[in-house]
Amino acid sequence: MKSMQIRVFPTPQAAARALAADIGRTIARVPHLVLGLPTGRTPVPLYGELTRLARSGAIDLSGATTFNLDEFLGLAADDPRSYRSFMRRHLFAHVRVRRAHVLDGAARDPAAECDRYERAIRRAGGIDLQILGLGRNGHIGFNEPGRALVARTHRTRLTPATRAANASLFGGRVRDVPREALSMGMVTILHARRIVMLATGASKAGCVERMIAGPLTPMVPASFLQVHQRVEVWLDRAAASRLR
Ligand code: GLP
Repeated sequence: MKSMQIRVFPTPQAAARALAADIGRTIARVPHLVLGLPTGRTPVPLYGELTRLARSGAIDLSGATTFNLDEFLGLAADDPRSYRSFMRRHLFAHVRVRRAHVLDGAARDPAAECDRYERAIRRAGGIDLQILGLGRNGHIGFNEPGRALVARTHRTRLTPATRAANASLFGGRVRDVPREALSMGMVTILHARRIVMLATGASKAGCVERMIAGPLTPMVPASFLQVHQRVEVWLDRAAASRLR
């Protein structure tokens, strides 16, 4: 098994700059790139860099198709607290892409919405490059730690820790954070041709260590990235501090 390729940058901003430049080079080769995108605090500097590069004409994302990893259940697309709104604020209001897909958290039939999303990914030819963030409890997307993981896009219950981590989108009120979400599944994620996990800050150091050096366990969903053939872990020094 090929081991995960690890890159350590001096700061989160340096990692974001390098990843935006990497995406720019990739898209110059593959203009119709299918890009998987995360939300959370970690990718915000990346989206800032992509916006900067796109505005200066250094990269052109207009041919790209994007698929976001997850969305809160019960929030309409125009709800300012939804991940779709987050993406609009941080990226899509500034950078034109060919097609930006985000799961519809307000879908009448969530199971049908999950199936539709899987079909849309397949129709797009699969995900070429999946960018991931890391939950402090080891989740990716909203694949939470538990006794078992779900393969495909699905409806899922959020752990108290994850609801607390997302409270800032809800004015700091954990009780307002939805209890459920829709998320790409572990197999959906692992089918991406290339994966870049971006993790920054000291709060991620323990989890980064378990993801890279720990056993494969559904208690650390990110540990399953170890089976992927082309996964890179991009860290700042703080997130890498527990690695030898
Ligand atoms: C949320 C998202 C994840 C993200 C995680 C980490 O729960 N669903 O996809 O990776 O938060 O967030 P942060 O980058 O803010 O630490």
